[in-house]
Amino acid sequence: MLNAIGLQNRGLEDFVEHKIPHFKKLGVPLIVSIAGESTKEFGLLAKAMGRFPSVVKALEVNLSCPNVEGGGVNFMRKQKRIRDAIQAVRDNAGVLVLAKLSPELGDVLQIAEKVLAKGADGLSLINTLRGMSVHIKKRASRIVRDFGGLSGPAIKPVALRYVYQAKKEFGVPIIASGGISNWQDAVEFLIVGADLLAVGTANFVEPMATMDILRGLKDFCRTEKIATLDALRGTYVPAEGGRKRCQQ
Ligand SMILES: Cc1cc2nc3c(=O)[nH]c(=O)nc-3n(C[C@H](O)[C@H](O)[C@H](O)COP(=O)(O)O)c2cc1C
Repeated sequence: MLNAIGLQNRGLEDFVEHKIPHFKKLGVPLIVSIAGESTKEFGLLAKAMGRFPSVVKALEVNLSCPNVEGGGVNFMRKQKRIRDAIQAVRDNAGVLVLAKLSPELGDVLQIAEKVLAKGADGLSLINTLRGMSVHIKKRASRIVRDFGGLSGPAIKPVALRYVYQAKKEFGVPIIASGGISNWQDAVEFLIVGADLLAVGTANFVEPMATMDILRGLKDFCRTEKIATLDALRGTYVPAEGGRKRCQQ
C-alpha cells in the first residue's frame, strides 16, 4: 500500500476528551502514538498523556512519518532533532517510551542506539518506506503527493531484518510492524524476537485481520505444543549456509 494521508487526527484536546474515556472503559493498557512538529510539541504531548497513568501505559514516539511537512522524516532527518524529541518525551513522561523508526531516517540500528542512549526504553520497527507510483496517462503521481509511505507485505523482509538485528544488538522491548497480514507472519516476527505486534495495512484488506491472526497464533501454539509466546520469542536459528559456502 502506498499512502499519503499524513497524520490526520483531531488533535490532543479531542483525544483527551473523547478517546481516553472510551479506552478507559475497555480496561486495556494503551500505547499512545504521538508526533509533534517541534521538540516542544513532543514534550507537551508527553506531559498531557502523563495525566492518565491508569490508561496510558506507554508512548510510541513517531519520529518517522513520511507524509507530513512540519514533523515527519524530513524534520527528523537531522539526527539532533530525533535525539531532542526523545529527550523531551523522556523528561515529560513517566511511562514506557518507545521510539518509532524507519529506514528513511538513516541507519536504523545507529539511530536506535542514539535514542536508547537518550532514554527511550524500546523501539517500534518499522514505519513505512518512501515510495512512488506513476499514472502512465497523466504522467503524474497516482497519489496526492509525489511520494507516499509504502507498507504491507512488500516491506516485511526489511522489517523482519531490523527487528531481528535490533533485538539481538540492544535486547530492548520491540513493537514490530511491517506487512504482518496473517498468523504465519506474526510467528515469523516472534521468532526473530518481537515483543508486540502491530497490524496496519492488513486491516484495509480484512478488517478482522487482527482477530484472525490471534486465532491462528493460538492454534499454531496448540498444535506445536508451545506453552507461551515467550517459548517462541527469539528462537531464530541463524543461517550457517553462507559460512559453509565460503569454507568450500
Ligand atoms: C494508512 C496508514 C496510516 C498510518 N499512519 C501512521 C501514523 O499515524 N503513525 C505512525 O507511527 N505510523 C503510521 N503508519 C505506519 C504503520 O503504523 C506501520 O508502521 C507501517 O504501515 C507498517 O506496518 P503495516 O505493513 O502492517 O501497515 C500508517 C500506515 C498506513 C498504511
